[in-house]
Amino acid sequence: MQTTTISPPDLPESEALFERALDALPGGNSRTTLFVPPHPPYADHGEGCELIDVDGNRLLDLQNNYTTLIHGHANPQIIAAVTEVMASGTCFGLPTRHEIELAEILTSRIAWARHWRFANSGSEAVMMAIRAARAFTGRDQILRFDRCYHGSYESVTAPGARGVPAAVAALSSSATHGDEQQFMEMIAELGDQLACVVIDAMPNRAGLVPASESFMKAVRAETEKRGIVMLQDEVLTYRIALGGLHSTYGVSPDLVTLGKVIGGGFPVGAIGGREEVMAVFDPRGDTPVSHGGTFSANPVTLRAGIEALKLFDQAAVDRLNAMGDSLRKTLASRGWDVTGRGSLIQVHVDDIAALWWRLYGEGILVSGNGLICLSTPMEQGDLDRAAAAFGDNDG
Ligand SMILES: Cc1ncc(COP(=O)(O)O)c(C=O)c1O
Repeated sequence: MQTTTISPPDLPESEALFERALDALPGGNSRTTLFVPPHPPYADHGEGCELIDVDGNRLLDLQNNYTTLIHGHANPQIIAAVTEVMASGTCFGLPTRHEIELAEILTSRIAWARHWRFANSGSEAVMMAIRAARAFTGRDQILRFDRCYHGSYESVTAPGARGVPAAVAALSSSATHGDEQQFMEMIAELGDQLACVVIDAMPNRAGLVPASESFMKAVRAETEKRGIVMLQDEVLTYRIALGGLHSTYGVSPDLVTLGKVIGGGFPVGAIGGREEVMAVFDPRGDTPVSHGGTFSANPVTLRAGIEALKLFDQAAVDRLNAMGDSLRKTLASRGWDVTGRGSLIQVHVDDIAALWWRLYGEGILVSGNGLICLSTPMEQGDLDRAAAAFGDNDG
């Protein structure tokens, strides 16, 4: 077992909240990914690119709710739009014009994805996309890649995960991300049983290393040849390019899942795809795939998402990616092992908990696995602040 040398700063208010949480939540926790030992600090509020914890510490937020808050906290344009919508009702038992507008914006950026459905999380989007692929192909098996996270849906949970029935696990196979030869062997063996190949071109949990162009093209060519749906999971990576990270490879999949940034800070997921595949959801069909959701496509989320995307134009993408490339270069020059692309960076160390707390003590918030992302309110001074907190990596 890895030994850690964490030394959390004194956080009396967070400590008190955690003690209270232990009586109400298992292990004091309601979101596994936010746990850091011995317990996480608690957030109080956010302002632009800073998060203020309940003990009054002001942190440069390089976590941004796991890459969601592309415009930082409480962006005035998003808050104004959402406030206006909320004043006229937060959800209805009828569709609203917002779902059409957000779908139109997304198709204007990801042209091959002609039709969209909205959901409440990336997990839900992946779940429904896999169901659509199964319905479209009439096949049950899926192929995914080791250590790639696609949310909490059982079919994409890591093999052997506790609580996942063996019968469900038996419907999915795993290959090594980026290993083209292994992929070719597996697809040759499983090809005619596969409904979809689920792929993230730069998977965070597998180390945030971009796939090679040759690998992405092989996945596209083989899936197309064998009538398998290529499902591109862009829940995390959509922020890298307006057309999605996959567009930079010159590859058009059959389905794409989005989340995080497209909800402007509210719970969101989306499935986009080619008309013929998305047609499985058409309720006018004989046996449509049913996809409800009391809060799916709710106007508050969608309005926030529309504003977030309006603010996230080509100039904003270019600026954020350039800033990310610059920070990655600076950290590498100071001895850090870094991966990623554009505004997504991952720092690799043996003792991530120790680094997490050291940075926290220096006023920098990163993800529990060393993932870092930037937001549009950030300036060069914020990058300098981050680099200074990391300092030189001597070991
Ligand atoms: C690539 C990817 N897919 C799916 C998900 C699940 O999204 P959500 O947490 O909104 O359910 C995530 C979440 O981090 C993700 O990174």
